[in-house]
Order: sequence, then structure tokens, then C-alpha cells
Amino acid sequence: MNPFGVSGKTVVVTGARQGLGKVFAQSFAEAGAEVFLMARNVPALEAVAAEIAEKSGAKCRIHPIDVLSETSVAAAADYVRTMAGRLDVLINNAAVGRGNAPLQDATLEEWNLTMGTNSTGTFLCMKHFGRIMIEGQSGCIINLTSLAERVVLQGTCTGAYDVSKAAIACLTRCMAAEWAKYNIRVNSISPGLFLTDINRDFVDAHPGFYNESKSRIPRGRWGEPKEIGALAVFLASDAADYITGADMHIDGGYALW
Ligand SMILES: NC(=O)c1ccc[n+]([C@@H]2O[C@H](COP(=O)([O-])OP(=O)(O)OC[C@H]3O[C@@H](n4cnc5c(N)ncnc54)[C@H](OP(=O)(O)O)[C@@H]3O)[C@@H](O)[C@H]2O)c1
Repeated sequence: MNPFGVSGKTVVVTGARQGLGKVFAQSFAEAGAEVFLMARNVPALEAVAAEIAEKSGAKCRIHPIDVLSETSVAAAADYVRTMAGRLDVLINNAAVGRGNAPLQDATLEEWNLTMGTNSTGTFLCMKHFGRIMIEGQSGCIINLTSLAERVVLQGTCTGAYDVSKAAIACLTRCMAAEWAKYNIRVNSISPGLFLTDINRDFVDAHPGFYNESKSRIPRGRWGEPKEIGALAVFLASDAADYITGADMHIDGGYALW
């Protein structure tokens, strides 16, 4: 058996309708996993499922989820329990980004939206999907943190986002320790800079940022979204069985200098 394989595994990807979440979904589907695509925008999820089916022949299931709502998260977890009876891999990818208001001008609503979606949303998904894994005494959870959890990006004012991601990194370590007894591994992926909708407006509004930021990256470029899928597949595979509580940096070496 291929130790790097994920064929037949049941995988939930939140925020799967675009960006990195779509890449995670494609990568697992192409590797033979049974993938559940989740986000709020169902027509967009259907388009992703159609694209995956056309490219790889894989049929993904779709379910709406709003990670701000415990009722919605619980319903999505019930759907997976009913349809698959188990869950092998959860990718907590849904998030909102940047904002970029200086803290003295930020509103409580903006702060709560960011913390609610990113940190509390990850908690809610871990709670409800994690119960399926505890029932099955097995599972792998991959949370999305960020370079911004470790490094303040010069020229940005993204305190709420950065704090929300640092909280996810801490939650990852806590639950890796707590759920090891259930044979559940919990790791995070910490991406550097990948051009997606989460940062496109900021890049467009700050023309110097893209090139200036490249000079801070030893690899000399931003990441390509398609480069991130293999890392998640590896973390979910049996080859990574002894990896838990880790924050895997995929950032071209940003922060080494
Ligand atoms: N791109 C980067 O450079 C970068 C760097 C570091 C970390 N990351 C992290 O990587 C992950 C993916 O980022 P991305 O760049 O792919 O972002 P993106 O293109 O903005 O996608 C965000 C996804 O989250 C979903 N989402 C937002 N709010 C939601 C909610 N309340 N409930 C459920 N789903 C929700 C969106 O779908 P709906 O709107 O349909 O719900 C969308 O699918 C995020 O966790 C982000 O923080 C990205």
C-alpha cells in the first residue's frame, strides 16, 4: 500500500469554493479521496464539483456551511455522518481576511467577524466534525494558520486577522495533545503569500506591495495556489502518522532573513 496515498479517505474541506480551499479539494479528489465541499455559496461549490468531475472523474458531495453558526456547522457534520458514516480528514480552511483598518479605526463588528469566522469557526468545526472522528477513534485535522500569525507584514494593518490565526495555531497544539488518545492528529498549514481573493484587493490597491514582498522571500516569488495541495495530502496520509501538533510553513522561506 502507498504510504503517501489517501485513496478512499473521507475528507471535508471548508471554504472549498475558491482559492486554496478549491486546491485542497481538487488535490484530494485527484488522489482518490471522497471529498465533501463546503462553503456558503452553493452554486460556486457546484461549479467546483463540476470542474473536479470533468478533470478527474471524481464525484464530490456538497453541503452548505456557515462557520459563524453552530447550527449550520452541526447540520453539515450530521450530513457527513449520514452520508459517509465516518470522517478521516477535516481541512479547516474557511476564513475572512485582511480588512486593513488601523486598529484605532477598526470596528468591533470587523474584529468579531474576523475572530468569529477564523478562530471560533475553526473551534466549531473541530467540535462537531471532531465528534465523528472520536466516534471512529481516528482522524486527521488540518487547520489553516498563516505567515501573519508569526510575522507582521510591513505596510499592512491586519491585527485582527493575525490574532485570529495565532489563536488557531494555539488551538491546534492544544487539541493535538488532547485528542492524541483518540488517534486524531491535529496539524496546521501556515501559508506565506499566495495570490487569491483574500488578498487581491489589497494587492491591487497597493501596487508596490507585490514586488516589494517578493524581495523578502528567499525563493523570490509568491506561492502558486496549486503548490499547497500536496502538503495537505501528505499530512493526511499514513506517511505522516507521527506528525501531530506541527505548524507546517509553506512560504518560500519568508521570515528566514
Ligand atoms: N492566500 C494567502 O496568501 C493565504 C496566506 C495565509 C493563510 N491563508 C489562509 O488560507 C485559507 C484559504 O485562503 P484563500 O486565500 O483561499 O481565501 P479566499 O479565496 O478568500 O477563500 C475563503 C473561503 O472561505 C469561505 N468562507 C468565508 N466565510 C465563511 C463562512 N462564514 N462560512 C463558511 N465559509 C466561509 C469562502 O466561501 P463562501 O464565501 O462561499 O462561504 C471561501 O471559499 C484561509 O484560512 C486563509 O486565512 C491564505
